[in-house]
Amino acid sequence: MGKIKTSFFCQNCGAQSPKWVGKCPSCNEWNTFVEEILVKSEIQEEWVEEKQKKVSVSKPILIDEIKLDKEQRVNTNDQELDRVLGGGLVKGSLVLIGGEPGIGKSTLMLQIALGLDSNKILYVSGEESEQQIKMRAQRIGKQSHTLFIHTETNLNSIFNQIKSLKPSILIIDSIQTMSTDKIEAAPGSVSQVRQCASELLKFAKKTDTPVFLIGHITKEGALAGPKILEHMVDTVIQFEGDRHLSYRILRTTKNRFGSTSELGIYEMQSNGLRQVSNPSEILISQRENELSGISIGATLEGNRPLLIEIQSLVSPAAYGTPQRSSTGFDSKRLNMLLAVLEKRGGYRLGLQDVFLNIAGGLRIDDPAIDLAVAVSIISSLEDIPIPKKTCFAAEIGLAGEIRAVNRIENRIMEAEKLGFEEIYISGYNSKGLNHSKINMEIKQFTKLDAVLSSIMQ
Ligand code: TYD
Ligand code: MG
Repeated sequence: MGKIKTSFFCQNCGAQSPKWVGKCPSCNEWNTFVEEILVKSEIQEEWVEEKQKKVSVSKPILIDEIKLDKEQRVNTNDQELDRVLGGGLVKGSLVLIGGEPGIGKSTLMLQIALGLDSNKILYVSGEESEQQIKMRAQRIGKQSHTLFIHTETNLNSIFNQIKSLKPSILIIDSIQTMSTDKIEAAPGSVSQVRQCASELLKFAKKTDTPVFLIGHITKEGALAGPKILEHMVDTVIQFEGDRHLSYRILRTTKNRFGSTSELGIYEMQSNGLRQVSNPSEILISQRENELSGISIGATLEGNRPLLIEIQSLVSPAAYGTPQRSSTGFDSKRLNMLLAVLEKRGGYRLGLQDVFLNIAGGLRIDDPAIDLAVAVSIISSLEDIPIPKKTCFAAEIGLAGEIRAVNRIENRIMEAEKLGFEEIYISGYNSKGLNHSKINMEIKQFTKLDAVLSSIMQ
């Protein structure tokens, strides 16, 4: 019997301390330390190679001599997920999928598992019964002869099953419900989550099996459990969206095997998640008449050009201080644009409430939508609609200058593909523009007031 050891863990960031402290020295949160029992077991760690337990025999090696195996990737048969992962699922990778309850994490993973019918997959659920999972599979409407469901929360017995089943992909739903016998802390506690994740990591690396971990998100939007989970895994994917809207967005916040700027877009339907391969179509509302306050920006998410709708409402402030509110766009940037419009454009916005919304529940950080935002605000203020077939792609500087943006051609091509006839860009954005390939009208400006007077006639 090992001696019972306890330690205190910060439930927010996972910092460890031998005694209780009121304020976490690492993340500065108050009252987050909780005592957890640790029993160092004598059971051998299952996935540690024999040689690692003795003295390591590895030697330094010249970088020239390192042989690269062809990166092995499995196609998940889901273009959106493949793109977000950086071009397919890497063998032996540990992927964490986080999201709020009810957003559709289990649906997504089950759907992927059902679609991968040439691989043996083990879906371990600590949250739902076999019947519930079967019902969900029926709803999705796919069948599989290679998908095994295991309702279990004890990691040791899961590993026992894995030894005989030898799945080629493992899905854990969710990491917070798992526990291992090696330590005695409660499931979901920091030390359990960390220990389970590290055992699954060893399993993934040793056997080259990709492992998906589903993780819950706390109210503050952070992945529940310690930050250390994010350090441990190869890829962190967030599944987000407004619960009242049917669109769901998959984005990476960390990816050792690809870019973190790729997006995957799905629509939640009554029979599972549908991949949205042409997102601009859903992000631009279908409207009959031209309405004031609406403009279209040509943005890029990762490598993917997107046309998005920006909506503004500007109206005289009813009480004292005017309100400024923005959804999906940085509010500091909105304030900056309002100041530029006031100072350089001469528009009186100081006494107006301004509400800004990026349609479709997206969050955009691309400065190239500045011009579209400014135009939509003035369109609402003046109550002059912007022609439907017009879009914008430029950054605005503090002096009211229209600045160039990167990869303008991709943006123009996408706009043209979607039937736009006119795009406003920066006058400095001519480099690399091949006018012979472009059929739409390109309007180039260097000053914000010139753009506004050109549109608001
Ligand atoms: P779920 O995958 O259980 O979410 P999570 O695992 O992230 O908690 O998804 C739950 C929601 O999705 C639930 O509100 C029902 C809805 N849903 C559909 O709209 N259509 C479907 O085909 C399925 C399976 C679920
Ligand atoms: Mg679930």
